[in-house]
Amino acid sequence: MNPNKALWEKGDFTRIAESMRESGEALVESFGIRKGLRVLDLGCGDGTTALPAARLGADVLGVDIARNLVEAGNRRAAKEGLANCKFQEGDATDLHELADHSFDLVVSIFGAMFAPKPAEVAKELVRVTRRGGRIIMGNWIPNDPTLVAQILKISSAYAPPPPEGFVSPMTWGIESHVVERFAGAGVPAEKISFARDTFVFNYPTPPAALLDEFRKYYGPTMNAFEAAEKSGRAADLQKELERLFESQNRSPRKDATSIPATFLRVTVAP
Ligand SMILES: C[S@@+](CC[C@H](N)C(=O)[O-])C[C@H]1O[C@@H](n2cnc3c(N)ncnc32)[C@H](O)[C@@H]1O
Repeated sequence: MNPNKALWEKGDFTRIAESMRESGEALVESFGIRKGLRVLDLGCGDGTTALPAARLGADVLGVDIARNLVEAGNRRAAKEGLANCKFQEGDATDLHELADHSFDLVVSIFGAMFAPKPAEVAKELVRVTRRGGRIIMGNWIPNDPTLVAQILKISSAYAPPPPEGFVSPMTWGIESHVVERFAGAGVPAEKISFARDTFVFNYPTPPAALLDEFRKYYGPTMNAFEAAEKSGRAADLQKELERLFESQNRSPRKDATSIPATFLRVTVAP
């Protein structure tokens, strides 16, 4: 099986996404969505950004490589009666099922960054966006001191070395790489803008409980723990991550979690 698909189907990202709903909504409110806008949400998970876009009246297609997340997204949309929000399986590196220039807005928040072959991903993002439309990506930033970049950094130190030719997803958080990838898709640098933005992970229990969700349900952390168990270092990994989650928690309440994480917001106008 495609290892990228296996990674995300192995866990259950809906458990983590529960802590991301408020920021997902706030982010989508900044997109200037109006009724009837055709939106593609790529690497949509269970709809953290797709559902808010549909609530604002957009016609939304969520595409994700993980079957379990596509099913969860369709269930959430049906529960809310959002007939304008559909989810289907697809791979950001090859969106052959989608027509050229068919979306006004293509959104990928911490989604397409996880696909291999970033040059292909950039080409597909540009191909499916209509002329005069927009692409908005949210990408974690390598070596950033906040939560997700640190989880991925710590986890990779315990995981086996990646296969040869592997391109780190975190390179989507480096502006020069983003410019180069979109240049390869025919979009000049002046059509790309960058901003730092923040996503807050809110959870109604202490940070250790959110970490527990990452350990049990977030593919990259699950893999790191599996590898650390084999090398007898699982307790060290747990300790490092506990320290991280505790030190980043900004909730004034001891029994709750509120952790901000910085990301690179990329806007492309092809
Ligand atoms: C960190 S989650 C983010 C999900 C969602 N955008 C959110 O913010 O809640 C990453 C998502 O990207 C999806 N993904 C990873 N590789 C992909 C690929 N090649 N094509 C499409 N989706 C992919 C995963 O299945 C997962 O749902």
